[in-house]
Amino acid sequence: MKYNFDEMLDRNGTLSYKWDGRSIDYPDNPEALPFWIADTDFPCPRPIVKAVQERAAHPIYGYSKVSDDSKALIAAWEKKRNGWDAKPEWVTFTNGIVPALSAIVAAFTEPGDGVIIQPPVYYPFLDSVINNDRTVVNNDLIFDGEKWTINFEELEELAAKPENKLLLFCHPLNPVSRVLSEEELRRVGEICVRHHVILAVDEIHSDLIYRHCTFHSIAALSKEIEQNCIVATSPSKTFNIAGLQLSAILIPNKNLLKAFEKETAKRVLYIANLFGATAFQAAYSDPECEEYLEQLIDYLWDNYLFLDQYLKEHMPKIKCQKPDATYLLWLDFRELGLSDEELQKFCLQEGNIALDVGAWFGGDGSGFMRLNIGCSRSLLKQGLDRLAAAYQKRGF
Ligand SMILES: Cc1ncc(COP(=O)(O)O)c(C=O)c1O
Repeated sequence: MKYNFDEMLDRNGTLSYKWDGRSIDYPDNPEALPFWIADTDFPCPRPIVKAVQERAAHPIYGYSKVSDDSKALIAAWEKKRNGWDAKPEWVTFTNGIVPALSAIVAAFTEPGDGVIIQPPVYYPFLDSVINNDRTVVNNDLIFDGEKWTINFEELEELAAKPENKLLLFCHPLNPVSRVLSEEELRRVGEICVRHHVILAVDEIHSDLIYRHCTFHSIAALSKEIEQNCIVATSPSKTFNIAGLQLSAILIPNKNLLKAFEKETAKRVLYIANLFGATAFQAAYSDPECEEYLEQLIDYLWDNYLFLDQYLKEHMPKIKCQKPDATYLLWLDFRELGLSDEELQKFCLQEGNIALDVGAWFGGDGSGFMRLNIGCSRSLLKQGLDRLAAAYQKRGF
């Protein structure tokens, strides 16, 4: 079934956070075109729409459960797409990955313990540590001018400290859009095993991998790593169903699974969202959803090529790093010589587009902005035209 990602639907007035929430997050210019929060402007696959509509037609929306086959479906998806021989009995569900991250921190560390994160990283990682009164331990990513990598020597030193109990690891790396090699992943996994640091990996973007990369789930690399791993995944980015809030957490180690489920019970995180459960089952059981995904990856890649060419022609001082994964691009504005505040003003008020500010992600994120290309090419062009007009007006 062919999908037309050029088709634009008006999302204004649909309770979309990206479109209707601009007045909250961008009060200085709520009219700015939104290229920020991480959902796409594409309709989700037809089998998901159909399943949700059919269920919505039944007018009782009481407490719900996930379908009996959902654990086996996500395990089979992991095996097929990521080569990880995951088992249904390792799966537990939560209402989203962000709540799960907080539960992971609470379940596997004590107040005051150190939790290692690798900024620039998706900012709820930091919040989940701070909000649980744990100590943030930064293992900043390093930028070599071309790509971002892990500071392995520092990671080893930090992991060796007995007070540091947990690594919150984001792979593919968001916001810097990197897929790590098998060798890099093995180093991360082995450091954690060696020093008894639990490895929680957020693989929410792992389906959206561009053709030049191969994604490996870190848990698949050895039995020792697998037994030390908590893997968080979800159909929400892949199929644009983030508003339905159902994610799968895979924990092969029985003791870790038990401890995590105790924490999710405490936080009452386990009652499934009815439409999330419905969509989850359709996403992983109807082969048309996978067809959608393959077409989406190609469309997004062409959006990246379009953007890269546009920047080279019209805004050569802004550089876009070649993405390995997902629709969140990491743009380097440093040559413009603006502070983070000036940069945000430049994009939001002069360029009239809403982006995520690189500094929000911590580490060496200053001077970068994250731009969401999960939209039709014509909307992307409108946004770039706006930014280019501001760029030219400034005479950069
Ligand atoms: C790395 C990462 N993890 C988690 C989330 C959100 O997960 P959820 O909506 O399931 O809480 C996002 C959304 O942008 C993300 O980029």
